[in-house]
Amino acid sequence: MAPPSMNDFVLDLRGLAEHAHTRAYYTLRELQPGQVFEVWLDQDPGLLMDAVSLQLRHGIHWEPVVPGPPLWKLRVRPREDVDPTDLVDLLTRDHLRIDRLFASALHRVNAGDLEGAAPDFHAYVEGLRHHIQVENELIVPLLDLPRRPDGQDPTSVMLREHDEILEQTTMLEHEFAEGVDQAWAVAPFFALISGALAKHEGREEQNLFPHWSRALRTRPDQGTELLARARDILAEG
Ligand SMILES: [Fe+2]
Ligand SMILES: [Fe+2]
Repeated sequence: MAPPSMNDFVLDLRGLAEHAHTRAYYTLRELQPGQVFEVWLDQDPGLLMDAVSLQLRHGIHWEPVVPGPPLWKLRVRPREDVDPTDLVDLLTRDHLRIDRLFASALHRVNAGDLEGAAPDFHAYVEGLRHHIQVENELIVPLLDLPRRPDGQDPTSVMLREHDEILEQTTMLEHEFAEGVDQAWAVAPFFALISGALAKHEGREEQNLFPHWSRALRTRPDQGTELLARARDILAEG
């Protein structure tokens, strides 16, 4: 936890009524690692903060300090500054991390800078392999959700998509290893993976994560151990 310091700011949203949301969004999206914002409100913060958090892809963590009415005070921090609460929280954050690495590499490829794209691309590859290892090897065997013979259940779909994304990523890795000199040679692979990854993560977060959360809540002791093992795997490489 960051100690109180010069990094702390007060965001006073009192008297803004419906404009409080816009102000909160534009201010909190600038939150930097290590920073803490104290937010003051004269309205119940629940709905407002949930909406802002969703807009920021759950990138912020907030907790009440002074419970109103009439004045509410909240402590808001970047989510990465707060320990993950469970495995699903950890994996949701890891999706964001993988997306950022991939987007940064893609951005440089589109600008014709292959050399500049390489470090983030390789970090993406490592991150993706570890993420999939956690989902395939830790979670699937343990939670063992019901499968369907036609392979259209969420778990089977997830496993197939993992194979596809890994295969496409490995092809792209070979291109990099052979030393591509033209960005147009790899740009189509990037576009392909970018679309597949976004759809895959969306489906997972919608179709599987709620089941995983529920299953984990029924076995809290295993959940703690699983979280620790998953963190070790994701921290490798
Ligand atoms: Fe996945
Ligand atoms: Fe995932």
